[in-house]
Amino acid sequence: GKYRVISTKPMPGTRWIRLLTDQDCRVEICTQKKTILSVEDILSLIGDKCDGVIGQLTEDWGEVLFSALSRAGGKAFSNMAVGYNNVDVNAATKYGVAVGNTPGVLTETTAELAASLSLAAARRIVEADEFMRAGLYDGWLPHLFVGNLLKGQTVGVIGAGRIGSAYARMMVEGFKMNLIYYDLYQATRLEKFVTAYGEFLKSNGEQPVTWKRASSMQEVLREADVISLHPILDKTTYHLINKDSLAIMKKEAILVNCSRGPVIDEVALVEHLKENPMFRVGLDVFEDEPYMKPGLADMKNAVVVPHIASASKWTREGMATLAALNVLGKIKGYPVWSNPNQVEQFLNENSPPPA
Ligand code: GLV
Ligand code: GLV
Repeated sequence: GKYRVISTKPMPGTRWIRLLTDQDCRVEICTQKKTILSVEDILSLIGDKCDGVIGQLTEDWGEVLFSALSRAGGKAFSNMAVGYNNVDVNAATKYGVAVGNTPGVLTETTAELAASLSLAAARRIVEADEFMRAGLYDGWLPHLFVGNLLKGQTVGVIGAGRIGSAYARMMVEGFKMNLIYYDLYQATRLEKFVTAYGEFLKSNGEQPVTWKRASSMQEVLREADVISLHPILDKTTYHLINKDSLAIMKKEAILVNCSRGPVIDEVALVEHLKENPMFRVGLDVFEDEPYMKPGLADMKNAVVVPHIASASKWTREGMATLAALNVLGKIKGYPVWSNPNQVEQFLNENSPPPA
């Protein structure tokens, strides 16, 4: 291979490696045992010659790394993530390094986890599981682990992009929830979907579902019963959910976060969970990942999982493939595949996702 491409972590599947090696690249995969690589670790990986890097969301890709990559002749960096808050794109641009991310292939997988957390919180699945395993179940009772019925309630989505819209469709169609969303852009296709599904229900003699585009985030927080956060993390969304926004939510609301931890002021959230035992959260991401703020782990009204929203086999192989294509396209000077359907076809060739 003429080009040296580094992956800072082993990634699922092998096809992403073949894609690169078939096109003049030699792939070096970092096998360091530590989970989170420091800037120094990555500097020594880059070394004197490196054409492209596939990196992870746990790494700090700023001035130091991009200048080193550029000095080593590198032209391309891809995050194996859709989020890129760990990447200083301005610094990359300054050093002539192109930046890629991996949207699309994780939309449904991530939305499915947001739906899972919504249900786990609504029906108190984790608490009930702990109770069962602790041997505390001594017979059916009318009030045992009573939770929330989603049907007819309102699901609120903050950030109705690809993932937020997929989640909204799942909750509306799966559980007959009404939708309220907030986004700078109008989610036209999502609105059409809810309208059509509402008409279907009506023709069936059932209560139709409805949608509303809120004019402020506060409107969603006040009106929704289940709220899922799907914004990107930047200065404008840092601590979007804080003491004041929590205060206007319903006392029995459910809040789900599969975006980025710092979108929520986690200290304020722990306080709120303590004061409002009927308020529940499902969290995939944390402000100081991999740590939780003090007290969160003790809250029965919180379901917590370790940033696994995109963790399905198909999606993780897809992310690795897209990251490889991002780097390869820049090194070669042209997009290897320009049509997103080609990626999907490639991924489905040997292991089709379940229909
Ligand atoms: C995961 O958090 C991602 O951004 O892909
Ligand atoms: C509950 O198990 C019921 O039969 O109603």
